[in-house]
Amino acid sequence: MRRKLIAGNWKMNGLTADGLKLAESLAQRAQQAADYGDPKPPACDLLVCPPFTLLWPVRDAIVGGGIALGGQDCHAVQSGAHTGDVSAAMLRDLGCDFVILGHSERRQNHGEDDATVRAKAEAALDSGLTPIVCVGETEAERDAGETLAVIARQIERALPISALAQEETGLVIAYEPVWAIGTGRTATPDQVQEVHAALRRHLADLLGAGRADATRLLYGGSVKPENAQELMVLADVDGALVGGASLKTEDFWAIATACPL
Ligand code: 13P
Repeated sequence: MRRKLIAGNWKMNGLTADGLKLAESLAQRAQQAADYGDPKPPACDLLVCPPFTLLWPVRDAIVGGGIALGGQDCHAVQSGAHTGDVSAAMLRDLGCDFVILGHSERRQNHGEDDATVRAKAEAALDSGLTPIVCVGETEAERDAGETLAVIARQIERALPISALAQEETGLVIAYEPVWAIGTGRTATPDQVQEVHAALRRHLADLLGAGRADATRLLYGGSVKPENAQELMVLADVDGALVGGASLKTEDFWAIATACPL
């Protein structure tokens, strides 16, 4: 049984005061739910991925509250002359358990390709982080009927297969259709389930059926309280990677509590 994971990708949002307020109110919600069952405890794991500058204060705000911490990117090597970069070892040192890799905003704005993502995922695994590897087609690729081929190619090239095969390392995949990110347009449940089922089949070919079955596949792209339930009941959807709606405690909590028991 895969426990769902609801992950907030805060992207480049939040100065210290806002970030702290958001983290504290989430932690308070989670604590109340754990202590009193009110509001209803979500049937999922919770993760927040703030910008690097907020990792430290957010960690202190959520510590012990059952909310995990993740980075939004890392470098492919662990230390050295890489001005402006942050390594997987540094994220781990700060208390992160996860790191988002290969988000389409990094692919588009920083020229990251699948080989870069694979090198970063290897570094993440080396440091004991679970990589959340993002894949997804553009609108033009969907219109051309290439969605499943694009997704298959991305996971073949971006996953460090031998590192993943060696031991029971963590892995999460996020399917984020580029045309659904920040646009308010969500993929339909049929479109999401089709891609997630195909992803699991490809994963089984690459890593074996057991591993494919255990890997959490998140959907991302305009997830909000109004559409969370219809997405979270899909057979191959194991959670969500939430952008805009993760910046509001009420919305993030509503998405988390939309996960079926
Ligand atoms: P939105 O939820 O704002 O569409 O962003 C999705 C996303 O990119 C999460 O990584």
